[in-house]
Amino acid sequence: MIIFDEKQNVIRLDNGRILYLIYINSEGYLETVYFGESIKDFDVSLSRPTGGEESTIYSISGNREVEYPDGYKYGLAPVELSVHASRDKRGAPLIIKRENGSYVTDFIYVSHKIYKGIKNLDNLPCAHGENCSTVEFLLKERTRELYVKHRVTIFDDKDIIIKNFEIINNTGKDVVLSRAMSMQLDLPSIDYTLNHFSGRWAQERNRVENKVLDGVQEVGSNRGISSAEENPFVFLKSENAGLDYGEVIGFNLIYSGNFKFRLFSDYYKAIHITYGIDDEDFDWVLENGQSFITPQAIISYSNNGIDGMSHNFHSFIKENLITYRFDKEYKPILFNSWEGCHLTFTMDSMLAYVDKAAETGVELFVLDDGWFGRRDDDFDGLGDWHVNNEKLNLHRLIDHCHKYGMKFGIWFEPEMINYNSDLYKAHPEYALTGDGDCAHITRHQLLIDFSNPDAVDNIYNQMKAIIDEYEIDYIKWDYNRRVLEHFSNNLDGRHQGEVYHRMTLGYYSLLSRLTKEYPKIMFEGCASGGARFDMGTLYYCPQIWTSDECNPARRSIINYNTSFGYPLSCMGTHVNVSKIMDYKQKSLFALFGTYGLEMNPNLLTQEDKKALLDTSELYKKYHKDVIENGTLYHLRSPETDNWYIMQCVNADKTCSLILLMNLMREQPHSRYLKLKGLNPDKKYLNNLNGCTYYGDYYMKIGVNLCETWRNEFGCELLILEEV
Ligand code: DGJ
Repeated sequence: MIIFDEKQNVIRLDNGRILYLIYINSEGYLETVYFGESIKDFDVSLSRPTGGEESTIYSISGNREVEYPDGYKYGLAPVELSVHASRDKRGAPLIIKRENGSYVTDFIYVSHKIYKGIKNLDNLPCAHGENCSTVEFLLKERTRELYVKHRVTIFDDKDIIIKNFEIINNTGKDVVLSRAMSMQLDLPSIDYTLNHFSGRWAQERNRVENKVLDGVQEVGSNRGISSAEENPFVFLKSENAGLDYGEVIGFNLIYSGNFKFRLFSDYYKAIHITYGIDDEDFDWVLENGQSFITPQAIISYSNNGIDGMSHNFHSFIKENLITYRFDKEYKPILFNSWEGCHLTFTMDSMLAYVDKAAETGVELFVLDDGWFGRRDDDFDGLGDWHVNNEKLNLHRLIDHCHKYGMKFGIWFEPEMINYNSDLYKAHPEYALTGDGDCAHITRHQLLIDFSNPDAVDNIYNQMKAIIDEYEIDYIKWDYNRRVLEHFSNNLDGRHQGEVYHRMTLGYYSLLSRLTKEYPKIMFEGCASGGARFDMGTLYYCPQIWTSDECNPARRSIINYNTSFGYPLSCMGTHVNVSKIMDYKQKSLFALFGTYGLEMNPNLLTQEDKKALLDTSELYKKYHKDVIENGTLYHLRSPETDNWYIMQCVNADKTCSLILLMNLMREQPHSRYLKLKGLNPDKKYLNNLNGCTYYGDYYMKIGVNLCETWRNEFGCELLILEEV
């Protein structure tokens, strides 16, 4: 709930667990007085910074000096929006150049309103729900008719704060936004570590933890997408916090393009965070009468450690972000053709894939890359979204799936074009090039200039024709390169700084049209594995392919770390041909994700198929209740322990699944594994040893890991069910 404390001139965002206080000072600046666990009472005058080098005297016009009565410390006080090119040098989230070239950007409070819910953002993915309240401040630039709406939302049932800015130009002239980030947050302590998730293709999201130091630290992407190299999910962990204790503050952005998380700390050992769209090569011409909306930044606050932060993000994503409503129903077990045959298949081989896949219990057959245009190799086809009838009779393949009661899904890479394609020959201007003819090709493909609405329409019409002609239940949406040069043939010189953001808006406009028109089709995001694993994509796609690395030894690290910020229910995870474990164990591993299969099914033995069928039964019995809708606990990290252990508990605590993967053949140095989240008074039956104990036994003494000697990469599923 949000209340305005008129006596103290403070906006109080409070859900009974967390509290966010914003003081409107007498000069019209919004001071962030407090953000943390709820407290009973506060006195704003005692909570603001005093002393320090900053003078309380400032000069208004150069010819007179005024003593500022409210003791406001420019450049030192925590504020919601720093002034730029003036006395606050910490780095403002917004920089809006004047026509005369001046960079001064100085917004002052005009009014505020408080309402239930959260503002829907027109052309951007955003949070939804009535279980929250928003305060919207109207601020005016000191010298011109330029306004900012600054919105801060607090959720009632989860410890999530959302911020964003909207800039409105009523100056009568164009202005240029040279930085348009979504939020600022100033915190009074430096005693945190900064945790971010760096990586590359097939090694996404390695957790990197560095102490927050004096100066600037940045995490971001300038590759046109959120990227495999860094993820928009980052968190600050107080130095003494752990998995389930201590202060942790997580950040994410509902955005899929370039981003920058910047943290600055100065002599006073406070930290100043700005977060939003990366300002590298960003210049947005905002015409008179127009507004620019920044993506929503999501802040998760926990005083119960990293898992507390994760639980906020997980429930937020499931309840207030994903818009695909059919995921509330049963999600079919998926088989994907890619790893089995890549681009090399025939009609007969695909029919045989369906026959064999059916024997493993799968319920959705997905035909990956290679079904369209002249796509026999990766030099051609992208941009030509019509079925290659010489290779395939798609109606027959779909009918064949239906005979087994299977649904059918198909792969697209809508934002790409091959140089040899018919689309390129007809519309070379659709390709994103460099300045002049310099355009680097990677994976033999170019990007389509999605800042160009004609190009987006063209792809929309082609995809629509396929969807209308064939019975399609699922679409995998891939993106297999990065933006290198970012010059658009469609925009003049003044607007080239808009290309990256316009490309991201183009991606959203196509996704939004298709998902609205075909609400029953489930779209799965993908980008060379998990290079666009972000909240922007999740708004439309309830699941995202997490990585092209399916070997459980490596994938365990990717899944463990990804699940700190995102729920297992959206993390595409498949069983593949990896030799490290048998099929039974690999399938148990994949259960802690969306679950699916991806291999040549002709090579499966009877024993393999039996193992997969057994796991399909487990999937049907437990997945929705315990893994998708349950609560996740991280128990052992494959990066720091010799184990990968995760636990899920269903909502009424009658059932828990624990995935145990041993990485090394050795006597475990932690003999007992204490479980979490069970009901201490309920009795649970252990499927591995047939014993029955109370929840408090499992949580206080734990599971004895030394009961049996385990082989390296042995994977087991412990099921506890109430008796
Ligand atoms: C990259 C994806 O991550 C794979 O799963 C597969 O779809 C290929 N692209 C197809 O080109």
